[in-house]
Amino acid sequence: MNQPVVQGLTTNKAPFIERARANGDIYIRQPYELYSEENHQTWRQLFARMRDRWRRYANEKYLRGVETLFMDQDHVPRFEDVNQFLQRLTGFSARPVSGYVPSYIFFDCLRRREFPTTVTIRDGETLEYLPEPDIFHDVAGHVPMHTDRAFADALVRFGECAAAAAEIASRISDEHEKLRRLTSNIRAMSRFFWFSIEFGLMRAPGGGALKAYGSGLLSSFGELAHSIESPQVAREPFSIERVVNQPFEIDHYQPLLFVVDGFEHLYALADELEDWIVQGRLDDVAGGEPSVSEGDLRSFLEAAAV
Ligand SMILES: [Fe+2]
Repeated sequence: MNQPVVQGLTTNKAPFIERARANGDIYIRQPYELYSEENHQTWRQLFARMRDRWRRYANEKYLRGVETLFMDQDHVPRFEDVNQFLQRLTGFSARPVSGYVPSYIFFDCLRRREFPTTVTIRDGETLEYLPEPDIFHDVAGHVPMHTDRAFADALVRFGECAAAAAEIASRISDEHEKLRRLTSNIRAMSRFFWFSIEFGLMRAPGGGALKAYGSGLLSSFGELAHSIESPQVAREPFSIERVVNQPFEIDHYQPLLFVVDGFEHLYALADELEDWIVQGRLDDVAGGEPSVSEGDLRSFLEAAAV
């Protein structure tokens, strides 16, 4: 007998996603037919209220990216529509996933120019705060940045950094030392990613207005303005040494943000990060958040074993 189709792809309330996770499926399809009218309405509201904020606070490449992708403002976008434009520009595509992706697998997707992308959308009751990513964060926050060549290449460099870390770990015979160094490397990469791709700010060389390029900012109505305007936020030039040793917490507005000079600068930093890994300079970063899960470690060890 056919099971009734349960409508709705609301975060934490989507049986389609629960089934995929129960099966251990990381990669899924975007079951577009399951989005409810309420889901589309949530997208419409989120998009409409961000427009003015983006115009004011988002960097130019992001604004251009939203237009280039012809992103649907009224309905949850179909990945295939977005990808059709995106792939032509930088070879990147949004790839639907069921939720959390172990960190090596995540970085390795970037290396292949695939961005693991959530299909569910937040509940219309909680437009502002959501601890986990949703399609608005991923598709409206991240994906427009992937239209920029230097930014896209920087993401690929993250994947190459992860591959280097896994390869180096595979050559360490002492198990304890292998896990210790790998934990430190993963923590450092997560911090770098957080303070750039998720919460990065940018100021063009020679001055100009401060703009956001991090998707955590670009998908948050409240924090986007706060990140640029608030005197409570410390804004420092991006330094690898500083960033990889800086813990962060995910459950409140960020009190400290780092500023790059442009996407070529970001690419150069991601490039340099691999040298730091190879030279062992990320083997003893400061402890603290984020914690590195067993799943994250296992993903690196399994990659190294191949
Ligand atoms: Fe994100």
